[in-house]
Amino acid sequence: MSSIITSIGICHPAKEIKNSYFEDFLDTSDQWIRERTGIERRFFALENEFTSDLCVGAVQSLSENYNKELGDIDFVIVATTTPDQTVPSVASQVQNKLNIKQAGCIDISAACGGFVYGIILAKGLIAAKTHRKVLVIGAETLSKVTDFSDRSSCILFGDGAGAVIVEASEHNGIFNALTDTDGSYGKELYLSNRALYLNDEKIVADNKLHQNGRVVFKWAVSTLVKKIRELLSVNNTDLQDIDFLIPHSANIRILEAVCKELDFPIDRCMESIRQYGNTSAASIPIAWYNGIKNGKIKPKDNLLLIGFGGGMTCAGICLRNEIDIR
Ligand code: COA
Repeated sequence: MSSIITSIGICHPAKEIKNSYFEDFLDTSDQWIRERTGIERRFFALENEFTSDLCVGAVQSLSENYNKELGDIDFVIVATTTPDQTVPSVASQVQNKLNIKQAGCIDISAACGGFVYGIILAKGLIAAKTHRKVLVIGAETLSKVTDFSDRSSCILFGDGAGAVIVEASEHNGIFNALTDTDGSYGKELYLSNRALYLNDEKIVADNKLHQNGRVVFKWAVSTLVKKIRELLSVNNTDLQDIDFLIPHSANIRILEAVCKELDFPIDRCMESIRQYGNTSAASIPIAWYNGIKNGKIKPKDNLLLIGFGGGMTCAGICLRNEIDIR
């Protein structure tokens, strides 16, 4: 059985955080943040606002461009690094809040690659003919695990969510995928409140995100270039046939470097970094949604999605956009 993606929605908290916010307590500036990352603002959840709330908001946004039932969704996948709690899963809370009966529910932990992993799993469930309508959400409240004393990381992250419905279909709109991981980079980007050792090195277990920005940056550029080429090859296609690239939005300079290396026009690379910061698992659907909303991405456009992040892990997929929400 083939599958297509039939609708998309996004959500962000109402609280907007401009770069100047950080100038009050850190040695940084709006100019540095814009020049080194591209970020102009991001949104932070309130104290009593959690990842599951943003998931529900993204599904409500999705329902505005979906004129069919949501009650027959038979599987819910939430990709997140920042679940409300470890158990129960965010997916099961979303199922309950949306009153979706009899759905299988799982959270997946693949950091900023999580949303693409979710689509790959949904496609597999439908291909196996065990499920027909899968809700895939990438959602984060990273502000809750940000170390606000670390000026090189705290300026990067934002909160948000993006949701899609993957459905069984007569015609195929989701093509080949690839996944890859290099666990030896684990300690370069981690969030832990338990393990004291990672890759045989002692780490800080304080439930805050820690990263080695320069190492992650270099790994991201070289990995993305290599994996995009591999993904094109497993789809027996080339970049000329791709209308829009949607890589995870971690830093505008990563996207610029990748497009330059691939000789791909930067205006056909969709990003969410400038207006939302790095929203990890939510960054790809947010960029996709806004690309459609602002009239750039149209029905039948070929998209290449590629996520990467803590692990270090990477996942990419080629698909056809079927959605029009203007
Ligand atoms: N404001 C002002 N100066 C800052 C700063 C800030 N917020 N953060 C770092 N600096 C300083 C550093 O202290 C350093 O100063 P020094 O030269 O006196 O030592 C200087 O800026 C350059 O630091 P560097 O780490 O080389 O900056 P950078 O250009 O690599 O940018 C990151 C830092 C974190 C923005 C960048 O490395 C990055 O985006 N990495 C990838 C992160 C990522 O993708 N994470 C998620 C993966 S899913």
